[in-house]
Amino acid sequence: MNDRFGMFIHWGLYAIPARGEWVRHYEQISNEEYYKYFEEFNPVKYDPVKWAKLAKKAGMKYAVMTTKHHDGFCLFDSKYTDFKATNTKIKKDLVKEYVEAFRSEGLKVGFYYSLLDWHHEHYPVDQFHPMKNNPRYKEQKRDFSKYLEYMHSQVKELMTNYGKIDIIWFDFSYGDMSGEMWRASKLVEMVRELQPHIIINNRLGGDLRSENVPTYAGDFITPEQIIPPYPITNYKGDYVPWEACITMNNHWGYHASDKNFKSAKTLIRCLVECVSKNGNLLLNVGPNAYGEIPEESVRILEEIGDWIQKNSESIYGCGASQYPKPEWGRWTQKGNKLYAHIMEKPIGPIILPNLNGKIKKARLLSDGSEVRIIKPWNAVEYQNDAFINFDGVELPDPIDTVVELELEV
Ligand code: GLC
Repeated sequence: MNDRFGMFIHWGLYAIPARGEWVRHYEQISNEEYYKYFEEFNPVKYDPVKWAKLAKKAGMKYAVMTTKHHDGFCLFDSKYTDFKATNTKIKKDLVKEYVEAFRSEGLKVGFYYSLLDWHHEHYPVDQFHPMKNNPRYKEQKRDFSKYLEYMHSQVKELMTNYGKIDIIWFDFSYGDMSGEMWRASKLVEMVRELQPHIIINNRLGGDLRSENVPTYAGDFITPEQIIPPYPITNYKGDYVPWEACITMNNHWGYHASDKNFKSAKTLIRCLVECVSKNGNLLLNVGPNAYGEIPEESVRILEEIGDWIQKNSESIYGCGASQYPKPEWGRWTQKGNKLYAHIMEKPIGPIILPNLNGKIKKARLLSDGSEVRIIKPWNAVEYQNDAFINFDGVELPDPIDTVVELELEV
């Protein structure tokens, strides 16, 4: 909750077909057909140090990478399967290298792990399974408890073989496939025992907002492709930690023709919105078959980094303000520091509602320059409010001009 901004990484064999990570499902690709990508997979340009440096430059403080997605392919060296990166041409434990690289750049490290597994012979052929329309698959006898053993053993490997892990991100529960169906209490107990400091997401099931929170409900809520309308609270009204996961284009896994990238401006404002509502942003990249983060993503992340570098004080350690959302943008707050994120220049002076007499000093965060609290002639009747202004028709930073207001205590 201090760090606020992280990198999500969706990477696997699906980078080769390059039509997103659900390609097996949408195109009903069998294990046999999908195997050709396994034989081909050879990400010779995989350089996690480069990824980590990029994440750091963008202002991200942590990362979460897919160790296994729904397709069942493991980027780590699991002894319970042959369907893993070490058996491909690259012959490497890609997760191990990721952990080392991100750690050495001072970033916190998280693992995404898919509860669904379309490769495993004992995972049910249900509505999401690529072979749901294939009679041969439907007739096979499947023993879900065998899958559960496999899944628990893999999670144990991930929690044992890679040193300290900061986050585990399970994905996902649906219908009956939720909670104890995953033997979730046992799973969480094991995870917490092996990694006492770990933070667990909420997709094993259970509701963190409810009165009876099961142990497996995790530590934070994970809104997907949406920013909640207001801070998330539980039944008592206490804040519940959350992290929105958002794609930069319209897919998680690499998609060669999806060039629908959101601008740096949109994503910076998205981050600010999350923080202003007490949340985090986990922003996704989908590296390609060679192991490179798409150049569009690189450019956008660098631009985000330029802004963050100047305005980091208004993000890290910040959260929702005691003041309601202003018309020109958003507030973030950390103790007696109130950050005005001004995104739209109003006609006339910028109004700081109900802050008259409460501001000790105001500074432009990007350069520390004084922002004078003014008393405009045309605003005398608005006695409760304070006012500032900038010369010129444009704001100093058209993306988000941040003014740090030090409040009287
Ligand atoms: C979903 C999707 C998935 C993606 C995830 C990210 O549940 O199944 O492909 O990994 O959300 O939040």
